[in-house]
Amino acid sequence: MERYQKVAEHKKLKSYMQSIATSEKNRVFCRHNWEHLLAVARIAYILALEEEIPVSKDLIYAAALLHDIGKEAQYTRGIPHEIEGALLAEGILKDCGYLPEEIRQITEAILGHRVYRESYTDFQKLLYRADKLSRPCRDCAASAECNWSEEKKNTGVTI
Ligand SMILES: [Fe+2]
Repeated sequence: MERYQKVAEHKKLKSYMQSIATSEKNRVFCRHNWEHLLAVARIAYILALEEEIPVSKDLIYAAALLHDIGKEAQYTRGIPHEIEGALLAEGILKDCGYLPEEIRQITEAILGHRVYRESYTDFQKLLYRADKLSRPCRDCAASAECNWSEEKKNTGVTI
């Protein structure tokens, strides 16, 4: 089994996703559900293939599956979800057989997925872009109240 499949099956990830789903039951903005995680994984992988960005599928899928697991901490304790997410991801990645250098790269990508910086690594930029492209802002009824800047919104057609 690929390591990212083990991440998808990890009981902690499943439990975080359940808590997030409960908290987001009445959310009018984008939800952070499995559909979103998979969309981010697929889009990031397509971009990596198209643009020949040298990041493996095993790393891309792990980062995409784990990038929002800190959301519950943000809802309940006000901790930015990329910071809590990177911390929580570390243990799951270890359990799934990722090596220390791979864990460093994945958690770095998670930490960078919310705000774009030119100084970011290719992997950080990849996760940031895929996260934004995964959202169909052009069809969103809550777009006017959304706190995303116009640069972040995906008003085109998602790949
Ligand atoms: Fe996300």
